[in-house]
Amino acid sequence: MKRIAVFTSGGDSPGMNACIRAVVRTCVYYNLENFGIIRGYQGMIEGNFIPMKSSSVSNIIQYGGTILKSARSKEFFSPEGRKKAYRNLQHHEIDGLVAIGGDGTFRGASIFSKETGIPVIGIPGTIDNDLYGTDFTIGYDTAINTAVEAIDKIRNTADSHDRIFFVEVMGRDAGFIAMECGIGSGAEVIMVPETITTMQEVFDILKQGWNRQKTSSIIIVAEGDEEGNASMVASKVKEKFPHIDARVLVLGHIQRGGSPSAYDRVLASRLGLGAVEGLINGMTHKMVGIVNGKLTFTEFDECVSRKKEINQELLRITEILRV
Ligand code: F6P
Repeated sequence: MKRIAVFTSGGDSPGMNACIRAVVRTCVYYNLENFGIIRGYQGMIEGNFIPMKSSSVSNIIQYGGTILKSARSKEFFSPEGRKKAYRNLQHHEIDGLVAIGGDGTFRGASIFSKETGIPVIGIPGTIDNDLYGTDFTIGYDTAINTAVEAIDKIRNTADSHDRIFFVEVMGRDAGFIAMECGIGSGAEVIMVPETITTMQEVFDILKQGWNRQKTSSIIIVAEGDEEGNASMVASKVKEKFPHIDARVLVLGHIQRGGSPSAYDRVLASRLGLGAVEGLINGMTHKMVGIVNGKLTFTEFDECVSRKKEINQELLRITEILRV
C-alpha cells in the first residue's frame, strides 16, 4: 500500500473534516501518499483528485461541512460510471480507498470493491446514526445538540403563547435523532419510525397534559414516521382538537451544519486513524466503527443489510418521564 485516496459522500455531517484530517495525518505518519477526491464518487468519475499533505488539513478540525465536498452520484450506479471511476484511480495509482459516508456510500463501495478488487474501508459519517456496526456515527452527537438547542428556544415561545409545536427532525427512516433530542429537550411526544405511535396515543397524551393544566407541548416527529411528517401529524391533531394553537417547525438541514462537538471530533479522529491502519493491515470491504468503546470492523454488506435497533430503554424513559 503506497497511495490512499479519501473522499466524503452522501449527506455531509459535522466532524467529516476532523476525519479527513485524521486520515491524511495517519498517511503522513506511515509515509503513505494521499489524495483527496472532490465530490465523492462523482469526483472519482470526473477525475477530480487533489494531492493532500499534512498542511492541507491544518485548521479544519473545528469546521462543519467537508473540505472535500460531497455529492450523491447517480452515474456511479451504472457499470460504465464505475469503470470511469476505476480508470481514474488507476491513472492516479491509488491502491486503497477510505470512504466517509452513510449507507448509500457503503452500498456503492461494496459493489465497487467487489468489481475492481480495490481495497476500501468505510467510515460512518452521517447525522442519522443508522448504521449497524458502530454505536455512533460521525455528526450524530453534534446534530442532536443542534436540535436540542433549537427546541429549547421553541419551548420558550410555545410556552409564552400556549401553543403546541410539531418539530420535524431528520433521520430519513431512522428515529435516533428524534429519540435522543426528544428526551434531551423533554418533549411530550416522540414519534419514530421504529415504533408505532397511534394518533389516539398522541391525543391521549395531550389530554393528560391539559388535565394537569399544561398549556404548551412539544411533539417531535422523525421525518420518516409512519403517521407522516410533522405537517401531517399536526393536521390530524388539529382535526381532532380544532381549538389548539399549533405550529409546525421543520429543522431540516440546520442539523447537518455547525462546528462538530468534542465527541464527534474525537470519534472522527479514532475512526480516521483506524481506517488507514485497517488498509495497511490488508483489510478491505469493511466499515470501521466503535462498539462498546472498542474499534471494530464490520463487513459492508452486514452494515447496510442489518438494522440498527433503537435502545428500548430510551423508549421506556420517554413513556415514564412525559407524565
Ligand atoms: O442521511 C442524512 C440526511 O440528512 C437524512 O437525515 C435526510 O433524510 C437526507 O440526508 C436529506 O438529504 P438531502 O441533503 O439530499 O436533502
